[in-house]
Amino acid sequence: MKLTVVGGGSTYTPELIDGFARLRDTLPITELVLVDPAAERLELVGGLARRIFARQDHDGKIVTTTDLDAGVEGADAVLLQLRVGGQAAREQDETWPLECGCVGQETTGAGGLAKALRTVPVVLDIAERVRRTNPDAWIIDFTNPVGIVTRALLQAGHKAVGLCNVAIGFQRKFAKLLGVTPSEVHLDHVGLNHLTWERSVRIGGPEGENVLPRLLAEHGDAIADDLRLPRPVLDRLGVVPSYYLRYFYAHDEVVRELGTKPSRAAEVAAMERELLEMYGDPALDEKPALLAKRGGAFYSEAAVDLAASLLGGGGSPYQVVNTYNNGTLPFLPDDAVIEAQAAVGAHGATPLPVAPVDPLYAGLIANVTAYEDLALEAALRGGRDRVFKALLAHPLVGQYAYADGLSDRLIAHNREHLAWA
Ligand code: G6P
Ligand code: MN
Repeated sequence: MKLTVVGGGSTYTPELIDGFARLRDTLPITELVLVDPAAERLELVGGLARRIFARQDHDGKIVTTTDLDAGVEGADAVLLQLRVGGQAAREQDETWPLECGCVGQETTGAGGLAKALRTVPVVLDIAERVRRTNPDAWIIDFTNPVGIVTRALLQAGHKAVGLCNVAIGFQRKFAKLLGVTPSEVHLDHVGLNHLTWERSVRIGGPEGENVLPRLLAEHGDAIADDLRLPRPVLDRLGVVPSYYLRYFYAHDEVVRELGTKPSRAAEVAAMERELLEMYGDPALDEKPALLAKRGGAFYSEAAVDLAASLLGGGGSPYQVVNTYNNGTLPFLPDDAVIEAQAAVGAHGATPLPVAPVDPLYAGLIANVTAYEDLALEAALRGGRDRVFKALLAHPLVGQYAYADGLSDRLIAHNREHLAWA
């Protein structure tokens, strides 16, 4: 089995390699191609990747290349994990929205829109090139904002599934708290990428006993601390929101907090410098502990599970992925992309039926879906008006004066990445 990772020079890649090595029985990779335009970085990451495989006696071949077309040739699946403009662009996304009193975040709000506008055209171009060489290959998209990027890919007719580690993170965390294995934990995970709630936690599968009330009663403080939301909020909701909901439920508090500390992008950039230095050490042959300070925990396991199922192998029967709604949430259009439990196999991903969604969540989901629709329009067709409308529709913006100020800043800071600006 041949797999290609676009953005393979990412400092995250050793997390992926570690998962590929540990889980080789589930996903037997014979050749892994890391593609990245940053040649020097790619060599550092590629070197460590080969040492991780060697240490774990994985005999798969690891190839590095800056040539995308050559890299995707013959691949069964292509993973996209790129970041247009790197951490420098992310730093902008996290900073200028604050000048307008709005949250600065890389996937949510105005910063997330900027990222979508930079990213969608690049990802569509890559996907087109994959399809030309390799029409049967599956595209697994980790590239943020995953909901909008996946919708762009599906609309263009690509064989794509979007993936995020939020659900697998909760699954692992809850399993530990409950003293069971992760595969026994089935989440009723509903919403959009980075806008989800765990409404029940079932043991053994979709029909199993719901232990969420017990989890909240026994471990509510720990769960609330992790999410940085007050425990009574969780108790009143009776569900566990993803940590991205803090940008909504505690927006003003987050804005104040972000104004007083360095951006996450700056923190990550410093970590990346340190990591790359470590990767250059020929004695290092495992993923360094420092990588655990990044947000990508378990993403390799999610990737292995999904790739194994899509390629006809032995992944979990149900996985949380991003795919077309197709009636699953009746209050959304069929071609909205939702993040939900799905039956995954060689055919792709089919969401499982979802119990009716409380208006408390359905309202926000519908609102952000409308924003994502307008954001994709803006990403595909450009123009300040489309940027303005997407921002006006966003529940974290909503007022014309904010939308105007943010539109100007978004365009000014991203000119080099926007063909139309
Ligand atoms: C989580 C999210 C990813 C996001 C990452 C950021 O894993 O699900 O979509 O890219 O956090 O982590 P970072 O270490 O870059 O802040
Ligand atoms: Mn994510």
